[in-house]
Amino acid sequence: MPVQHFITVAETPVDTLMRIFDVAYELRAEREAGKRNAPMLAGKTLAMIFEKPSLRTNVSFQQAMIELGGHSIVMVSEQVGLGKRESPADVAQVLSGMVHGIMARVFEHQKLVDLAAVSTIPVINALSDFSHPCQALADAMAMMDEFGRDLKGRTLAYVGDGNNVAHSLAVMCGRLGMNFILASPPGYEITQEVTDTIMSYCPDLNMQVMSDPMDAVRYADAIYADTWVSMGQETEAAIRKAAFESFQINDKLVAAAPKHCIVLHCLPAYRNIEITDSVIDGPRSRVFPQAHNRLHAQKGLLAVLMGGA
Ligand code: CP
Ligand code: NVA
Repeated sequence: MPVQHFITVAETPVDTLMRIFDVAYELRAEREAGKRNAPMLAGKTLAMIFEKPSLRTNVSFQQAMIELGGHSIVMVSEQVGLGKRESPADVAQVLSGMVHGIMARVFEHQKLVDLAAVSTIPVINALSDFSHPCQALADAMAMMDEFGRDLKGRTLAYVGDGNNVAHSLAVMCGRLGMNFILASPPGYEITQEVTDTIMSYCPDLNMQVMSDPMDAVRYADAIYADTWVSMGQETEAAIRKAAFESFQINDKLVAAAPKHCIVLHCLPAYRNIEITDSVIDGPRSRVFPQAHNRLHAQKGLLAVLMGGA
């Protein structure tokens, strides 16, 4: 059987996604009952490569490995030199003979594709310039926590940049039968090429692109925010902040949404830039439980990919 990677939501079979959620919820229930999870990753090691900073992804993967009885080795990019000191293919072939899984946070998505092409152990995308599938798992769980495991017909309004996080969320919505609304300033929408790819994987996805955030949230069950300036785009910060000025998630915008609508943000948040303190710390926010779900989602993912769950 071919090794199962987790590079994008789109390339992950829907039954694998559902299995990840099932296992994540089982492991979370055990943890919340004060029990230890079975050591299903005993003797297994995850190699973790970071080309960019991380709090949630780093800690949740390491903690997930600990709680499932395994180990992790964390490497920053200067040590590995992925694509500089050594090709991704050579890195993958070396690690395939030493550890049991590779998790990488990279600038160019192609590096993940190159790792996975030759790796005989699972390769996990821990964020690339193209997608952030691990985040989308936790985001789905945050919505399931609120609305139940069946999210069919629910609407997610993503207000902001048509970036890596938006790409993964759009496909996740497609997989879960949700509607996906994107409100972005002109020039920052999901590109036509990526939209075509998303629709090729999710032909039934109801995806709408709007330019007015107020219209976008009117029927939303969840509003989603991410930074306007992703890692690697720092030189564009001033121009981006100007372009996104009217796309802030604030009390006025939240008031335009239905009363039951929750607010999500993948974090890190630039407070009072893309989202106000009053919203992120307010009653509609599920941002911190969403972040905590990164741990549970990672455990489900690792258990399925590396533990045979
Ligand atoms: N949301 C997220 O991926 O956070 P980190 O960049 O801190 O890992
Ligand atoms: N879009 C953001 C997500 C951070 C978790 C970035 O790529 O920096």
